[in-house]
Amino acid sequence: MSAYIIEGGSKLYGSVRVHGAKNSALPILAACILTNGECVIDDCPPLRDVEGTVRILRRLGATTVRDGDTLAVKASALAKNDIPDSLMREMRSSVIFLGALTARYGSARLSYPGGCELGPRPIDLHLAGLRSLGAKIVESGGGIECSAPDGLRGCDISLSIPSVGATENIMLAATAAKGRTRIFNPAREPEIVDLQNFLTAMGAEVRGAGGSIIEIEGGKPLHGARHRVIPDRIVAATYMAAVASAGGAVSIENVRPADIASVSAVLREAGVDIRESQNRIEVASEGRLKSVRPIKTQGYPGFPTDAQSIIMSVMASAQGTTMFVENIFESRYRHAGELIRMGADIRVEGRVAVVSGVKRLYGANVSATDLRGGAGLVVAALGAEGETAVGDIEFIERGYCGLDESLAGLGAKISRR
Ligand code: UD1
Repeated sequence: MSAYIIEGGSKLYGSVRVHGAKNSALPILAACILTNGECVIDDCPPLRDVEGTVRILRRLGATTVRDGDTLAVKASALAKNDIPDSLMREMRSSVIFLGALTARYGSARLSYPGGCELGPRPIDLHLAGLRSLGAKIVESGGGIECSAPDGLRGCDISLSIPSVGATENIMLAATAAKGRTRIFNPAREPEIVDLQNFLTAMGAEVRGAGGSIIEIEGGKPLHGARHRVIPDRIVAATYMAAVASAGGAVSIENVRPADIASVSAVLREAGVDIRESQNRIEVASEGRLKSVRPIKTQGYPGFPTDAQSIIMSVMASAQGTTMFVENIFESRYRHAGELIRMGADIRVEGRVAVVSGVKRLYGANVSATDLRGGAGLVVAALGAEGETAVGDIEFIERGYCGLDESLAGLGAKISRR
């Protein structure tokens, strides 16, 4: 296991570019198997989770060629319709292949993705959506078999929770369903709109993403397409939080300010200076920040659960008390225990965390508990006094490409061990 060694207290200056969004790239790569034409995906960074998805594509028989951040995928000769347990375990989000494989082959077989570090993550909505489209699903011995021997049929599907993954899985399957599918109460995240844009570029008829109903006219012939993945809004939020924690002035490039308006609003309330232009955010912070009104995680455009840990690290040394309410996932406060090792005053009770800002955090040996929790610890360490070792950074590398190098480029004292 590797670690970041961070000597806190250096202010950050300069500019940094945000890479393509992991959560967009994964469903878009799954969508590449809907056609036998070549798909070229730009700004598709070689993150751990993206590389895991590439391994799945190859296992299925697709060819992939990487040139920097551009990935070409050709799924002309798909050889398999199953994903083995070892690949499924690497990444829970590989369940997205269920919809894509069923659309392409009429059947799919994969092992159950199971729980993860954020607590239990059921896939009942994914399966119910596919069943509504006419798929027969058999769950046995940790495996899921999905088949639609008579083809999929478009229908109305109402999601009880606007699940991101379920929305994407249904969208992918519905491209091959006969007739019109409507998804009511879908997730509205920017990554859903990005998937719609890619599917549209492939020749699919999809509209409404980002709103309250998504409509898909299925059965259109799909062809290869070229697409640029949207910038990663959580990576952008991480750099903003890093400046808030360490102080300094940084220009964050390749970012869509509207995608992280809820995070900017919180940081502004805390006293961070944020200036937005079309695809840039300039962040400046000096002195001690102040606590903010309760932060409640919600689906987009609400405050993202993926930014909860990152902002908690900022609030841990702000003046006053900030309350967090985690509404999306259970067990998403494991980073709080690590922050406490750095001197933070945090009380967690169920879905609520009360953060009483301390004057400063101190360097300590801590471990990343999950992807975003780990990024939060890096943010905390940048503003802490003394040296912090953040262990288990493999979690962080699932979603960040060269975070240490980018932060070092801004003046942070960070190295990888
Ligand atoms: C995606 C993101 C993740 C983000 C999350 C919420 C990807 C690869 N991951 O995860 O980074 O934190 O959205 O914005 O895009 N649920 C059910 N049944 C289901 C599906 C979900 O009960 O079948 C529940 C989950 O337990 C959770 C909530 O719905 O409480 C939201 O989960 P969901 O939106 O599905 O998250 P993911 O797609 O897994």
